[in-house]
Amino acid sequence: MIIKGVSIERAGGKGVCIGHSSDGRTLLVKGAAPGDIVDVKIIRKKKKHFECIIENIVSPSINRVDPLCEHAELCGGCSWQHIKYEAQAEFKGQEVKDNLTRIGNMSGGDFKGIIHAPEAYRYRNKLEFSFSSNRWLSPKEISSGEEITSREALGYHAPGMWDKIMDINTCHLQPEPSNAIRLFIKSYAQKNGLSFYHPRKREGLLRTMMLRSTLKGDWMVVIQFFESPEDKGIELLRALANEFSEISSIYFAHNTKGNDSIYDLDLHLFCGKSSLTEYMPSALNKGKDLSFQIGPKSFYQTNPVQANRLYSEVLKLADIQKEDIVYDLYTGTGTIALFMAQVANKVVGIESVPEAIKAAKQNAINNNISNTTFLVGDMRNVFDENLWLAHGTPDILVTDPPRDGMHPKVVKRLNELRIPRIVYVSCNSATQARDLDTLNEVYKVDTIQPIDMFPQTHHVENILVLSLRDR
Ligand SMILES: C[S@@+](CC[C@H](N)C(=O)[O-])C[C@H]1O[C@@H](n2cnc3c(N)ncnc32)[C@H](O)[C@@H]1O
Repeated sequence: MIIKGVSIERAGGKGVCIGHSSDGRTLLVKGAAPGDIVDVKIIRKKKKHFECIIENIVSPSINRVDPLCEHAELCGGCSWQHIKYEAQAEFKGQEVKDNLTRIGNMSGGDFKGIIHAPEAYRYRNKLEFSFSSNRWLSPKEISSGEEITSREALGYHAPGMWDKIMDINTCHLQPEPSNAIRLFIKSYAQKNGLSFYHPRKREGLLRTMMLRSTLKGDWMVVIQFFESPEDKGIELLRALANEFSEISSIYFAHNTKGNDSIYDLDLHLFCGKSSLTEYMPSALNKGKDLSFQIGPKSFYQTNPVQANRLYSEVLKLADIQKEDIVYDLYTGTGTIALFMAQVANKVVGIESVPEAIKAAKQNAINNNISNTTFLVGDMRNVFDENLWLAHGTPDILVTDPPRDGMHPKVVKRLNELRIPRIVYVSCNSATQARDLDTLNEVYKVDTIQPIDMFPQTHHVENILVLSLRDR
């Protein structure tokens, strides 16, 4: 069914935009921009809303632009490319405000304008691609009636499909030589008869590839083979090393598992260094930058320029004094903790992944930082009074949980603990708002600082600073 002349009012959650039908029904419209007037086709009817796609743009929004990427229409990766970058950032800031007000019952607080990303493209330091011998065909290609000659692909999963890979020519998310490396590998494989993986038939040599880079321009390539890489696979790795002087580390794995996850695989270093080194400016604005070792399995924020901005903002807003005991919940590999340790008395970082804590401890040693304690544990079990009896009560607490937000038990303990200042970093303002609704009982909101880490997508990071209502 088609609904004509729908005005797109605003950007909603998960990147879809919102309009209404003449009878008041909420319409979630994929691919729209606030300010558009569009005819839409309903593709799914839900109780509270209808999901729609655009049938025809009657009048485009002033915020519409032509996407830079040739794959924008089909690739699910950068779903806001058709919206001007400045407007994307404003919509994200607005979403944070709406969520905190509507779900989090926020009142007051200094809402700062969103910090824009300096680079709207080529900002990522890590991309993962899959090979396929059964390339996903677009609806246009299928209906064209033209003969399909090549079915090999090296690219991204088609949105929502585990077994369908879209071939990618140019992706604008990572700096060069990202595209050059991927296209070299694909063309070498085709010329030399290396087979591409078929996920349903479970056959083929080349399975996935990951590219990691640093701000200084060092590159790591990790290739997963489904079949044994002997001879042909190894020759490919040799050719790759010879072709690109920027690549300083090549790994490979033989993966016959049912999934592509790298974390439980044995990785073999084919040539070069075992890890890349990323640098983060010193928190004290003097002295040496902090350095972080990034191996093929390490976690590091994928937009390193904005990660540095994020950490600097956290530090500024945390206002740490040199006698302060600081806790960093969900510390990952300890990047925020190590940044803050340069100005605090001591920092306690807690995280559930043992490998991440091992890396955090190593990062502390590499940077000659001795006032940090890193502990492994599930937050809802370890964040209790035994912890603060052992390590001191926090003067300042930073928390950066995963998308689901904090466990209710952790939020409750934050209320019981009555910490003078909490800096809550979140990549999901809806769950942050849910947690705020409980924290409101004890804390008030001082500052809200959204920051855009992922241009061209609807994702947004937010820093919320809380202090005790009554001291
Ligand atoms: C958003 S990341 C934070 C990363 C880190 N602050 C940084 O900037 O690099 C969230 C972290 O929480 C960890 N995590 C997830 N659930 C957890 C839990 N229940 N207890 C402790 N840590 C958890 C994840 O492993 C991940 O490292």
